[in-house]
Amino acid sequence: MSLSDKTKRWLNENCKISLKGKTVLVTGANSGVGFKMAEISAYLGADVILACRNKERAKEARLRLIGDHPEASISVMQLDLASLSSIEVFCEELVSSQVDIDAFVNNAGVFRQPGKKTADGFDLVIGTNYIGTYYLSERLLPYLSSLPHEVVYVNTISIIHKIATVDYADFYYEREKRYRAFPVYARSKLCLARYTYAQAKRYAGSNVRMMMNHPGMTITPMGLNAFGNGIGRLAGVVGPLINSPEKSALSLAYILSHEIPSGSIIGPNKGFGGWGYPEMNRIGQRVKEGAEELIRFTDIEIEKAKA
Ligand SMILES: NC(=O)c1ccc[n+]([C@@H]2O[C@H](COP(=O)([O-])OP(=O)(O)OC[C@H]3O[C@@H](n4cnc5c(N)ncnc54)[C@H](OP(=O)(O)O)[C@@H]3O)[C@@H](O)[C@H]2O)c1
Repeated sequence: MSLSDKTKRWLNENCKISLKGKTVLVTGANSGVGFKMAEISAYLGADVILACRNKERAKEARLRLIGDHPEASISVMQLDLASLSSIEVFCEELVSSQVDIDAFVNNAGVFRQPGKKTADGFDLVIGTNYIGTYYLSERLLPYLSSLPHEVVYVNTISIIHKIATVDYADFYYEREKRYRAFPVYARSKLCLARYTYAQAKRYAGSNVRMMMNHPGMTITPMGLNAFGNGIGRLAGVVGPLINSPEKSALSLAYILSHEIPSGSIIGPNKGFGGWGYPEMNRIGQRVKEGAEELIRFTDIEIEKAKA
């Protein structure tokens, strides 16, 4: 389905950019918000790379995009964030081929995966959303910071990070027998936000602009997993209070077309970040503090998993 006239109008009025000659890479781009970010980037003229765990789904997404945007240059890469070795192969391919990237969007993520683990034995939600994204970022940022132009690096968090906590004694919520889907997910996103905020400081003055975005409540396969099928029915009643993937995906064009300081969070402007069009959000203390300990802990976890 191509972009709606409303989206095109909004882009025209609020994001006056052309991405011609730029390359945008989006992870988890075969579905939901990631697919729409890829589509908006193609519409604005970018060359787009779809980095997906399943190459067949990626190819199918590419065909859908080409169908609506025949002039677009769209390629696919394989990346499974739930596997450290897949991340290594992906980064090696990107760096050794010197792929030129202007915007890199870590959009892929999962919610509610009781009892499931990554290939390296981490809880699947924390392992994918945080540890996988961390491992990828640590490998790519040195390369991206060597490119001779600005690179916008976006990590996708969630508004729920605002109520999350980090407990290193029970990092994966294994102490309780009951699976706690929202706390686990919220922790994965708080850790990602803390890490991203710290990286913004580390790369201050470089060509890399570290950004965070959160889509609000969005009707996607993950949104349905989080809020239940009722969200679909609810959307029929209170449609404007829940974002479509297309509306949530506008955050990328907003970030690319505005001079937003590195380390900022962009999210919907209504309902305490639940829905609406993108704007800059306030950053809470829990994001700003504790990154050193988190990074130390994460490096040890990764070392242990690889040993
Ligand atoms: N929807 C919401 O209400 C909401 C709210 C807050 C934040 N978010 C965040 O927004 C982002 C996009 O989510 P969405 O709602 O658009 O969900 P979605 O439609 O379910 O898309 C998630 C994408 O992530 C990919 N993915 C999952 N595990 C992966 C892995 N191990 N390696 C690589 N890719 C993987 C999925 O691939 P497959 O298709 O192969 O599974 C899919 O392409 C996520 O980071 C999510 O946490 C969403």
